[in-house]
Amino acid sequence: MTNISINSERLLGRIHMLGQIGRDAEGKLIRLAASSAEKNARDHLVELFRQAELQVAVDQIGNIFGIWPADGQTANPVLLGSHIDTVIDAGIYDGSYGVLAGLEIIESLKAANFIPHRPVAVVAFTNEEGVRYMPDMMGSLVFAGGFSIEEALATVGTDGSILGEALKQIGYAGSPLPELGNPFAYIELHIEQGPVLEGAGITIGAVQNLQGISWQQITIEGVANHAGTTPMAMRRDAGYVAARINTFLHDWATGSETPTVATVGSIRFEPNAINVIPSRATFTVDLRDPGEERLKLIENDLSDFLKALEKTEQVAISTKRLARFEPVVFDRQIVELVEQAASKRGLSSIRMTSGAGHDAQMVARLCPAAMIFVPSHGGVSHSPREYTPAADLIAGANVLLDVVVKLCGREQEITF
Ligand code: HGY
Ligand code: MN
Ligand code: MN
Repeated sequence: MTNISINSERLLGRIHMLGQIGRDAEGKLIRLAASSAEKNARDHLVELFRQAELQVAVDQIGNIFGIWPADGQTANPVLLGSHIDTVIDAGIYDGSYGVLAGLEIIESLKAANFIPHRPVAVVAFTNEEGVRYMPDMMGSLVFAGGFSIEEALATVGTDGSILGEALKQIGYAGSPLPELGNPFAYIELHIEQGPVLEGAGITIGAVQNLQGISWQQITIEGVANHAGTTPMAMRRDAGYVAARINTFLHDWATGSETPTVATVGSIRFEPNAINVIPSRATFTVDLRDPGEERLKLIENDLSDFLKALEKTEQVAISTKRLARFEPVVFDRQIVELVEQAASKRGLSSIRMTSGAGHDAQMVARLCPAAMIFVPSHGGVSHSPREYTPAADLIAGANVLLDVVVKLCGREQEITF
């Protein structure tokens, strides 16, 4: 552990300041990727990077990098970061905490006259949430070479916009950054967004793996008819079939006694009238599991169930793959550095799995990566009720600082 610590007031103040950018008329925090609300947050972050005298670079998918060179070099940095786009009616910590903590660590190390032997950079990845443009974690997926820039920029949003056009409109359609190369390592500090740490009374999560994610859109084609005159046996009710599928997935996941989770997060009926049997239901399915085989199992069982429903309910069912990421195991050496840093600061820690998707799962394709979690009060996230006590936010950032010093300090060479 170093005797350097972050400037707590500066970090906490910035989290709250950024948390005010992108609020709608009702006060809801909505900073969807490449929106004008997100542009304001991007501009604010770039200004903070500039004030910290970092080299600012924006790549073709709009990922924003703040780079602290070492010996005049910027290649292969120790990379910190997360995202600043949010879901709808979001909390102020998801993503923003990791980006602002990364900046805070660089500024605190500079203020302590620490000389890194490796560049350190902080990144805000584009479109981590995937609410407007799918898949999620798109900016880091492109950065990791898992999605072509052409396909990404051509992505059509849920509002019919094109991502590449939207990035141009907000002034964040950047250029290739070959000089950055692959990161030496990537560490992402994030709120847990689940109940584990708070439930166990533990401050630091040393995240060792992250569960697989399966996103798809399902469309049920039934027949519109009169809600009053159509006998039940004559109905081809898309709304009812959608409900059967939601119930099937809920019962599968609940009954499996495994970590499998299933969510129907968005649904649309047509014609969407109180007295008309829905002719069409379009909805999304989010399936997750730390085990790839179990994830495949629920996907296959769902596919079989859809085929059976087509026959019994005389509807047509189509599916569209929106995202599919296998589970990821993070770098053991970095996980151990997190545990050691926590212990030296007298903080409790446990190794754990991430239930949420994160940019780290994509960057792990390029370099050794890991995550640090801090508790979420009540396990709540993706909600304005999201909250993490200041002491935990500060503890997480100091642990990240110590890990960064280990990875770029002159006193010892960490090799992977
Ligand atoms: O969906 C997720 O887990 C992440 O918040 N994008
Ligand atoms: Mn996040
Ligand atoms: Mn999120």
